[in-house]
Amino acid sequence: MSANRPRVFSGVQPTGNLHLGNYLGAITKFVALQENHDCLYCVVDLHAITVWQDPKELEHNIREVTAAFIAAGIDPEAHIIFNQSRVSGHAELAWIFNCVSRMGWLNRMTQFKEKAGKHRENASVGLFAYPNLMAADILLYRATHVPVGDDQKQHLELSRDIAQKFNSDFAESIAAHGFGETFFPLPEPLIAGPATRVMSLRDGTAKMSKSDPSDMTRINMMDDADTIAQKFRKARTDPEPLPSEEIGLEGRPEAENLVGIYAALAAKSKAETLTEFGGGQFSAFKQALTEVAVETLGPIGAETKRLMDDPSHIDSILSDGAVRAHAIADPIMRETKQTIGLLTD
Ligand code: TYM
Repeated sequence: MSANRPRVFSGVQPTGNLHLGNYLGAITKFVALQENHDCLYCVVDLHAITVWQDPKELEHNIREVTAAFIAAGIDPEAHIIFNQSRVSGHAELAWIFNCVSRMGWLNRMTQFKEKAGKHRENASVGLFAYPNLMAADILLYRATHVPVGDDQKQHLELSRDIAQKFNSDFAESIAAHGFGETFFPLPEPLIAGPATRVMSLRDGTAKMSKSDPSDMTRINMMDDADTIAQKFRKARTDPEPLPSEEIGLEGRPEAENLVGIYAALAAKSKAETLTEFGGGQFSAFKQALTEVAVETLGPIGAETKRLMDDPSHIDSILSDGAVRAHAIADPIMRETKQTIGLLTD
């Protein structure tokens, strides 16, 4: 890792099947950023347990996300892949941020409202404080660039608010210790491209999600070719042919979603995709979509399975990644404690 390349941090929860939304919204970006950045990619197990997880499944899922990262093209030697709970600084800094962040800020988080639903009183405290842990994940490494899907935008804004409040609450102490003017950089979300918000295949107004009870709403990264074909064939559309220009997608969320998915998989823009398929029926387009999805996901799924056959190899990658993540985090954690007035070694 070099000292002057921008630092990237991002995380994925090990809570079940990874799907096309995770892949296009996040993992493909993780892969691309490796060229010009120093990257930390984290399997966020402490986030996962904000909702009860079966312990055996959690172990399996942590390894499977790790395997999928590698199969998709993340290089665990040139960059860092690790599981969050192995680096204690995440939980420590999250506690400090619990004391910086405000109840009012967290009360505005739409994802908590969605996840807690009507049973708010019964949600875990961890689920409510979750965005503070996310801020800690990023700032523990003073990461500046954070590739995520559109659904994480509000959490990233909160991370910036926390960084800013910490910098200003402790400005005098930061200066007195000679820690520079901005102790924590304000992290920048990287949300770009045609598939920042992949929608359900059955409802173009709902996000594609791991927690949807129907598997037909999503393409999983481990789905086989037949399953992918069947899910796209049954994906909801409307009776009109595809438009030739982007403006024609307005008010047609299912069409817009499939066009965005195709564009992202084929590394084209939505406009280019519509030039190619505009005026045609969905059936032909869905076939092309299936082909490009199978071509992309097939080899990744196969490689993930192959890697999962050797769990001890995956465990050694995670443990090595954690050692290297610790080395970056420890001095930042120490400076953070000194800034606040906590005594350190
Ligand atoms: P998670 O595990 O829900 O999702 C992982 C990544 O996939 C993106 N994503 C999507 N993108 C497009 N369309 C979709 N339908 C879709 N569904 C999911 C998410 O935006 C995310 O980038 N809180 C985070 C994990 C996290 C994190 C962090 C991210 C923890 N700490 C620090 C960045 C930095 C989460 O639950 O992602």
